[in-house]
Formats: sequence, C-alpha cells, structure tokens
Amino acid sequence: MIKHVLVTGGAGFIGSHLVDVLLARGYEVTVLDSLLAQVHADGERDADGWPVYLDLRAKRIKGDVLDEGVFEAALLGVTHLVHLAASVGVGQSMTNIVDYTRNNVMTAAVILETLSQRPHTVERMVVASSMSIYGEGAYRVPSTGKVVAPPPRSHDQLAARHWELSMDGEDLTPIATTEEKSLRPASIYAINKRDHEEMFLAVGQTLQIPTVALRLFNAYGSRQALSNPYTGVAAIFISRLLNDQPPLVFEDGRQKRDFVHVGDVADAFVTVLASDLAVWDVFNVGSGSPIAIAEMASVLARMLDKSIAADYLAKYRAGDVRHCFADISKIERTFGVRPQRSFDDGMQELISWVSEAKVPLDRSRASIAELEKQRLLV
Ligand SMILES: NC(=O)c1ccc[n+]([C@@H]2O[C@H](COP(=O)([O-])OP(=O)(O)OC[C@H]3O[C@@H](n4cnc5c(N)ncnc54)[C@H](O)[C@@H]3O)[C@@H](O)[C@H]2O)c1
Repeated sequence: MIKHVLVTGGAGFIGSHLVDVLLARGYEVTVLDSLLAQVHADGERDADGWPVYLDLRAKRIKGDVLDEGVFEAALLGVTHLVHLAASVGVGQSMTNIVDYTRNNVMTAAVILETLSQRPHTVERMVVASSMSIYGEGAYRVPSTGKVVAPPPRSHDQLAARHWELSMDGEDLTPIATTEEKSLRPASIYAINKRDHEEMFLAVGQTLQIPTVALRLFNAYGSRQALSNPYTGVAAIFISRLLNDQPPLVFEDGRQKRDFVHVGDVADAFVTVLASDLAVWDVFNVGSGSPIAIAEMASVLARMLDKSIAADYLAKYRAGDVRHCFADISKIERTFGVRPQRSFDDGMQELISWVSEAKVPLDRSRASIAELEKQRLLV
C-alpha cells in the first residue's frame, strides 16, 4: 500500500519543504492548512490563496484543524500523520495567550480525540516540538565540572545587564543540550509546545500508534515567513542588511543558538516517518554546531558584501534564554539522522530566496516598538 501522509500546516515554511521531500520519495501527500494571514500575507499566492511554492501534486485542504469535522475528513486513507500546524511567535504568545493556547494545544486535543473516537488508518505520528521547551540550555560549572540546568535569569540580573548565567558568583559554561535536560518553558508558546508534545506521546502510547516528537532548534531557509516579524532571526537580519540597515541584536550578541537548515529538518521528519521503530519518544533536531548571534550577523554581512555592523540594543526580550544548542547524538543513534548542509551553503540558499522577494521586507523596528509597548523588551 502506498503510504499516505497528512501534513497539517503543510503550506508553511517547514511543511512545504517536507511535502517536497515526501513527494520526491513517492509518498501520497495531503496538506491541511488554514493559511494564517500572518504567515502567508506577503508571499506570492495563487487564486485560492495557496503559496505558489507548494507542489501541485499534494492534495490541498484549506481548513482549520479546530473547525469541527475538518481534521476527520482530511484523515481519509491517511497512514502517516505529521502535525506542524501552530502559531509560532514566541514574543507574540506572551500577549495573545488565548489564541496561542487554542491553536497550539486545542489542535492537539482535536487531533487526538478524533484518533481516539473515530475509525482511522493512521499507523505512525510525528509532531513538531521545539527547543523552547527546555528554557535555558544545559551548562557546566567550570570549577567543579558539574552539569547543571539553571533557572531563568532573574529580572534583577537582567536589569543589571549581566547576561551570562551564573551560580555562586561563577559564570557557567554553556554545553550542548540533551533530551534528558529538565523542561523549563519560559513562554506561552513553549508551554503550549511542551503540553502538545506530552499529549501526543501519552495518547499515542494508549492508542499504540508509534509517536515521535521532534524538538526543532532554529530552522532557517527559503520560504520562511518574512511577513511574520516574530520568527526567523536569520531571515530578519538578511532583510535588514539588504535594506542597508544594521541587524538589531538583543543583549550583547554573544548568546548562542543552533541554526539548522530546513532541508535537514525535512529530511529528519521523513527518516523518522519512514522508520518501523515502534517508539514513543522525543529527539532533538539541530545542526549540532552552535553560533553566537553576533557572529551570525557578521557572517551574513560578509556573505552579502555589506560593511554594516550590527546594532547591539543591550535590551532583553521577556522569556529569551541566554544559550541553547542541541546535542544531536540521540536521533543519529536511533534513526541515523545527521544534518547534511553546511551553515554557509544553507545561509546562501536563504539569502537567494530573501533577495528574490519583491521588496525585502523589514519589520524589525515595528516589532521592537510593539514589544516595548507590551513591556516585553526591557
Ligand atoms: N521554524 C522553526 O525554527 C521552528 C522551531 C521549533 C519548532 N517549530 C515548529 O514547527 C512547526 C512548523 O513551523 P513553521 O516555522 O513551518 O511555521 P509556519 O508558520 O511557516 O507554518 C505553520 C503553518 O500552519 C498553518 N496553521 C496554523 N494554525 C493552523 C490551524 N489551526 N489549522 C490548519 N493550519 C494551521 C499556517 O497557516 C502555516 O501555513 C510548528 O509546529 C512550530 O512550532 C518551528
């Protein structure tokens, strides 16, 4: 039997790349997407509102997972489910709490209740979780070598512009975060993603449908929503530089993240989906190579041939962590997944795509003003 994958949120950034890989590997694909305005408003769209980059061979259902009967109807003949549909702005989640919780947690409830109560043919589920559920990444105490999972930085510490995590007067050294690290989500988005991950694992186990949650680190690449000022720091910096403006950097720019190309994320989903391993578990998906935000800004300026230095705001965003980057050994050990794209090649692909946007959009100042108004940037 041909495997038939339903991708919720399949018209989005990660979803559309996943659809390409699935089709190339011979899967039948159905996309269920509500085409959220914040994500799709500025991109090129066809007469029905679908982004033009979405492969025409995928069956399309325009609808909201939350609307009664929509998800159940989309399940017809589906053997594999990938759930990506979500609202994805971390900062925005701190003010639009009802919307975020509805769209990121109730969607999981609708999907899981449908699978529990209705006939279906789903054999396997893979859902998108997020590194944000860790809160701060893992650290080591330099003097003792002990690995620790510190709480978030206090308001007083941040007000004093002491950016690094410290313990007993000693600054901690960031290390790669494994799946074992305790979860300390610091935003509504992250709390939602943790709840949704746990809901899938618990109900998947009860229904005996193998279920994997992939904890994605910072995905980047073409088709990233430029209309959404709350996501995608790499795309935002490139837009600024193309407009001859300095990238705006929070804190001092030394905070480290893990940028993974969307092509590697899509490959990870397909490998996990295609596997027969009956597991109910969580896996990091990252590049395994951390980079400081300031360094990324200067690499991008160099790649774009712009001599523009970043603007360091020395301000912090509520809920932001200092360092978080992935230990990716578990997914490699279990499924043989390893990222294939180098940082430079991946960023070049993103640059080409942002450059082709009719006018590279730059909403950094507007979104920063909005965060300040909401007192989420201090
Ligand atoms: N991009 C990242 O770096 C990243 C990192 C960690 C986790 N994730 C997770 O990966 C998933 C995909 O993220 P993305 O970056 O592709 O986001 P995106 O905004 O580009 O795509 C999400 C898609 O879901 C659709 N959607 C939203 N709510 C819906 C609903 N109720 N019903 C149907 N469709 C709906 C949107 O219209 C959009 O097309 C999300 O679950 C996100 O939380 C992304």
